[in-house]
Amino acid sequence: MLPWNVHPPARFTGPAFFMAVAFLLAASILPPAACAAPLSDHQATLSALSDVQAAIAEIVGADQSYSTDKKVYYRASQRAINALEGTRGPEYVAAAGSAGDAAGAIGHIDSLLDRKETPVWAPVLDSAEANIRAAIAHLADARHAHELMDYDIAVSRALTYLLVARGGPADIGAFGGLEGVLANTVLGVPDGATIADGCAEPTAAPSYGVHGGYLAWVAVPAGEGTHQLAESAGEQSVIIRNGMILLPTAAAPLVAKECNSHAQVRPSSPSQATATATLSQPAKTTASGADSAPPALYTKAQAEAGAQVFASKCALCHGANLQGTAAPSVAGTDFLSTAQHNGWTLEVIRYLVFNDMPFNAPASLSSTEYADVLAFLLASNCYPAGDKPFPTADDPGFANVKLGPVPGSHPGKNQFGVCPDG
Ligand code: HEC
Repeated sequence: MLPWNVHPPARFTGPAFFMAVAFLLAASILPPAACAAPLSDHQATLSALSDVQAAIAEIVGADQSYSTDKKVYYRASQRAINALEGTRGPEYVAAAGSAGDAAGAIGHIDSLLDRKETPVWAPVLDSAEANIRAAIAHLADARHAHELMDYDIAVSRALTYLLVARGGPADIGAFGGLEGVLANTVLGVPDGATIADGCAEPTAAPSYGVHGGYLAWVAVPAGEGTHQLAESAGEQSVIIRNGMILLPTAAAPLVAKECNSHAQVRPSSPSQATATATLSQPAKTTASGADSAPPALYTKAQAEAGAQVFASKCALCHGANLQGTAAPSVAGTDFLSTAQHNGWTLEVIRYLVFNDMPFNAPASLSSTEYADVLAFLLASNCYPAGDKPFPTADDPGFANVKLGPVPGSHPGKNQFGVCPDG
């Protein structure tokens, strides 16, 4: 695979472009599955990600077809299982075909973990594999479901596990998943690319700054032309300096600390950079135990409007106090610890609510009603209100907002309950 494809006639299309093309490109230029030579670590990781994405696309596609034919859904679950497990998995059924390749996501991850040393990315891949196996178990249940409702429950569970396994480029921990290791560790360095010292400033571009197994930055030449990255670096800002575009990764601060030198990966003030373009700023993470204040993600007025939506569209199954009746609780310590345990981010819950809820009429509310009801759910889980409304469109930063008990809050007296101030 070519690490950099430069198309001279095309013009430089800006930072958003990197984010947009990154994964499309990664998925489209994978070598064929039946390749005789073993894949490089980089290729194996890309292939695992591509299998997970294919499985997600398969089940989301069946969901959105609104078909009433059970066979459509069973086939989608089986094809997703095949993509995840590969031909050697116990649940593999050749007749269904596969949305992925022969090794499957599990096969690729196993090949990466099959070594004596423990690279920095190993724990992340371990948990990605555990999440993929959990997804397979739910998909296998879906295949045996007699009712569409049972199918939907199993599949949406599988989907939450897959979204965590996929992860996001802005997280270097376990919840970063496959996208996280590609964006922030040596696994993201394309074969044959120039590797430089991640503690120092780049001296040539294209190059990848690596230290201790982490990827601190990617440098791209700033000249004319379209530069396609192998995958998204998860960068929040782009620095243009010395004729190079420098993309610091989410691992940059950690690397800078480890380097214990004066070499700076990020400029200390914006004026040092010739130009700094800010991409969508991911909201602050709210990993529990962290002292940082949780982000303000909605307005009070919105949460009040959301309470009305909840009462008319959701309370039937989730209970007037969100305590859960026919369906799981959606607020309180039980919900929050499940969310924390499963590594659910706001992206996962937002996706689930916008696309799958109300369970008996998915995607039937207006985007304003969905935004309002999410504001209400956040309020009920003791997340603070602010001046900025919860958006009707998805925000990439939501992949970094981990749901869990908000430090110092007391969500209700009983194990469910509603946040007293919500
Ligand atoms: C007809 C019943 C029904 C209605 C109405 C309904 N839900 Fe659900 N909801 C469910 C079921 C069943 C699940 C569990 C499915 C799953 O695990 O994916 C669920 C799961 C959820 C979850 C994830 C919780 C978890 O632990 O899995 C959230 C959040 C949620 N619903 C929010 C809403 C919102 C907001 C509304 C109103 C817009 C709504 N639901 C309306 C039945 C319903």
